Amino acid sequence: MTDQASAKDTEPLGPTASRLWRFMKPHRWGLLLSVIAFVLVASTEPLIPKLLGYALGEGFNAKPTNVAGFAVPGAAPATSAAAVTPAASAMSPAAATSIASAASATAVAPPASAASSPSRPSMAEVNLNYSFPIWMVPIVLIGLFAARGLFTFCGQYMLNWTISRTVMDIRTALLQVLLRADARVYTSLQPATAVTKVVNDPQHVVTLIAGALITILRDGLPALALMGYLFFINWKLTLLSLITVPGLAFVVRKVNRRVRRMGSWAYDAQLRLVSVIEDVTRAWRVVRSFDAADYERRRFAERAREVQRSTLKTAASNAMAQPLSQLMASVGISIIVSLALYQSRVNGTGVGEFASFVAALLFMSSRLRHLSDVMQPITNALVVARGCMGLLDTPPEPDTGTRELRDVRGDIALQQVTLRYPGANRDALAAMDLHIPAGRTTALVGSSGAGKTSVVNLLLGFERPDSGRILLDGVPIDELTKANLRRQFAVVSQDIVLFDLSIADNIAYAQERDDAKLEQVLRAAALWDFVQSLPEGLDTTVGANGSKLSGGQRQRLAIARALYKDAPVWIFDEATSALDTESERAVQQALEQWQGRKTLIVIAHRLSTIRRADCIQVLADGQVVESGDHDALMARDGVYAGMVKVQH
Ligand SMILES: Nc1ncnc2c1ncn2[C@@H]1O[C@H](COP(=O)(O)OP(=O)(O)OP(=O)(O)O)[C@@H](O)[C@H]1O
Ligand SMILES: [Mg+2]
Repeated sequence: MTDQASAKDTEPLGPTASRLWRFMKPHRWGLLLSVIAFVLVASTEPLIPKLLGYALGEGFNAKPTNVAGFAVPGAAPATSAAAVTPAASAMSPAAATSIASAASATAVAPPASAASSPSRPSMAEVNLNYSFPIWMVPIVLIGLFAARGLFTFCGQYMLNWTISRTVMDIRTALLQVLLRADARVYTSLQPATAVTKVVNDPQHVVTLIAGALITILRDGLPALALMGYLFFINWKLTLLSLITVPGLAFVVRKVNRRVRRMGSWAYDAQLRLVSVIEDVTRAWRVVRSFDAADYERRRFAERAREVQRSTLKTAASNAMAQPLSQLMASVGISIIVSLALYQSRVNGTGVGEFASFVAALLFMSSRLRHLSDVMQPITNALVVARGCMGLLDTPPEPDTGTRELRDVRGDIALQQVTLRYPGANRDALAAMDLHIPAGRTTALVGSSGAGKTSVVNLLLGFERPDSGRILLDGVPIDELTKANLRRQFAVVSQDIVLFDLSIADNIAYAQERDDAKLEQVLRAAALWDFVQSLPEGLDTTVGANGSKLSGGQRQRLAIARALYKDAPVWIFDEATSALDTESERAVQQALEQWQGRKTLIVIAHRLSTIRRADCIQVLADGQVVESGDHDALMARDGVYAGMVKVQH
């Protein structure tokens, strides 16, 4: 298994723990109240046997002090008390107490007829010898249980309050990270992994920790009390018993290291399993059409098996903790018992003291046994916490700009811009110079991979150029805040992304809904008639990523969303590729009403759609190789003219 361990697995978990504590800290009062409640519950525990013992002890053993002068007529009352006793012992303690007290009271109470006899004590005299009336027994017991119930409830409630608050805070922080993460993070982060880390992991972590905390409270406190008692009886021997502590610490450390390693492996394996499910659901059509069910099943089985093995190994490591620490404890106990026996033989120490010492020691070791189970859940929790909180280290998108532009015209210039994606062996854009004038329609054309989408990514600040400058209305875009920069663009991207919301919510995404404007943009996107034909109209939901719509409808919905945004620059990256010629023409005509008022960047492979653009920029290998309007480029008979000829 060591081969499964990466450098990460042996990292200490301390930083993760302090990170976790930062999230719990604001809710520490809830935790404290919960701890107090549990301590109160624990403190009532010895009260019950004690009270019972007290009540029963007095009930059975107390005798009127003047019993010598009590002229017992025969043995009848005594017998009746004796007859009740065995029955009482078989009952529940509470019932037994009250009955036994009642019985013994009857047994010793003199008959009323005899009350006048001078040789017998009066009722008042008898009652004086009992320190409490019988009715108090049920009251105290029920009260005690009610108090315990209340404290238990409060403890649980406050603990869960703390847990749920902490989980919510962690999730919120993680989401915040995702919302701000650098665009490049998303090339490696699978959505399902993100879901697991944000939704499942925090709950898992905090629940494990809370469980461990309860064990500590439940078993740790009594263990401490017993330890104190042991010191009280025989501090030398008790001190001696601590010699096993280093051994125990060693065992716990070793086991924990293994749990940590196996836990990390199990965690990663689980994420790999999750990604198969993501693929199977996201790409279900491909899976079915390739008849790949068996293939996916095998892929799943392989990863599921890895999860099974790794979780089993983690469980085995967890399970090793108890026997090993018990073994260590047994060494200590046997040494102490032997020494104690020796001591008692030599000094003649009483058997009683020895017995109570050993009994307390055994009780303590049984409590400690539970405590030894605490480290593993905590380690497991920290391993998971490290996994999900690793997201917090995701670099945020640099947003160092401070300027905010208003009334942008949309004049765009790329000056000697070079961009190379990480890991790529050639530049996506190579010292590109490009000017896109305001209020005009500019078309970007060029073969696949020429760098058209890369230009868009740069304009929106999703990528940063390795060198060169990008200007918007003459201002370098890195001087603008990201929010201000992105407000200037409305983009229909090459891969359409829709939300599982209604048509209206998809179009007026994150903005006020204005039905008149919705109609206007839907008409412009040639989608109004379709929406009208739907039973729920604008409120019809579109399914996961618009799965209830046709390809062309999805594109037109995305166009409507861009138009609704009302930004000065519109970018259509292959936005009409799935449309039939008629709808495409309708969209183009609709766009013409904004001509002169908006800067329009159109990227298209189908050259007929950009024929009327004010300027056509032809890209090849990350550079502009030709530019001009259709007629000029045709006259030039270069790359563009060649592309046009091929398409006709
Ligand atoms: N995230 C990325 N990581 C690495 N390389 C990338 C990434 N995105 C794009 N590239 C590479 O950059 C080059 C330009 O890609 P770009 O998406 O800009 O092409 P395009 O002109 O839009 O092509 P298409 O017409 O096919 O959409 C391609 O060679 C592509 O492989
Ligand atoms: Mg592209």
